[in-house]
Amino acid sequence: MKLLNKKIALVTGGSGDIGRSIVKTFVKHGANVIFTFFSSKKEANKLEVELKNSVESYKIDLSDFNSSENLVKNILKKYKTIDILVNNAGIIKDNFLLKISKEDWDYVIKTNLYSVFNLTKHVIIPMMKQKKGSIINMSSIVGLTGNIGQSNYASSKAGIIGFTKSIAKELGKKNIRCNVIAPGYIITKMNSNLNCDIKKNWIKNIPLQRAGTPQEVANCTLFLASDLSNYVTGSVLNVNGGLI
Ligand SMILES: NC(=O)c1ccc[n+]([C@@H]2O[C@H](COP(=O)([O-])OP(=O)(O)OC[C@H]3O[C@@H](n4cnc5c(N)ncnc54)[C@H](O)[C@@H]3O)[C@@H](O)[C@H]2O)c1
Repeated sequence: MKLLNKKIALVTGGSGDIGRSIVKTFVKHGANVIFTFFSSKKEANKLEVELKNSVESYKIDLSDFNSSENLVKNILKKYKTIDILVNNAGIIKDNFLLKISKEDWDYVIKTNLYSVFNLTKHVIIPMMKQKKGSIINMSSIVGLTGNIGQSNYASSKAGIIGFTKSIAKELGKKNIRCNVIAPGYIITKMNSNLNCDIKKNWIKNIPLQRAGTPQEVANCTLFLASDLSNYVTGSVLNVNGGLI
């Protein structure tokens, strides 16, 4: 059964590990997918070829408000509407608070949190007109728990949760659902630099005794994007093997 037949979906950070899985899963379920990337044009092109050009990609810095507005305008010109928005793009720039520079603080907050505001603000306009939409924002377990060396990242991810819960209340009457996914330890490039001992230690504390996969995050995103979750809004879906 195709869960997203002919839906128009915008997925940010589609060239990354989790984003790529979301794009592929949405296409498999019949959606027309537009995805964004920032730095990795090679990965974006590879994905377009793999999906036989059934997707379209845009290079954009989502921390910039005007570029985000233009992106939405361009998509609407071509596709008329946007049914699903997945704010997935995100970065880390870890350091202890004593050592974090103002530049690295701004960089992470702007890329992870401002980007969600920048795009969502414009995407809700077509969703309000059609009185339907699903917005899924990618947070992280550390947005709930905090983490040593990640005060910038954890703040951005906690901000995403507060933002999503607020707009779920604002937009419910327009039948626009807004939910968060909070992944735990997922095997991706983002955490490939961590040393083995840290990884082993994490896994020891996970009830399911393993890291998650990008596909497992994509499956949860599919659920929240589809009509299967029609009565779910303002929720945080933990995808962390039971860690919290
Ligand atoms: N990997 C994990 O274990 C994990 C855990 C919890 C949450 N997450 C979250 O999941 C999301 C995806 O993570 P991933 O591991 O696939 O990351 P990734 O590094 O593989 O991909 C990140 C994506 O964000 C895009 N991006 C970076 N800066 C951008 C900018 N300024 N404007 C627009 N796009 C930009 C990149 O081009 C890329 O497509 C992120 O929000 C991340 O915080 C990941």
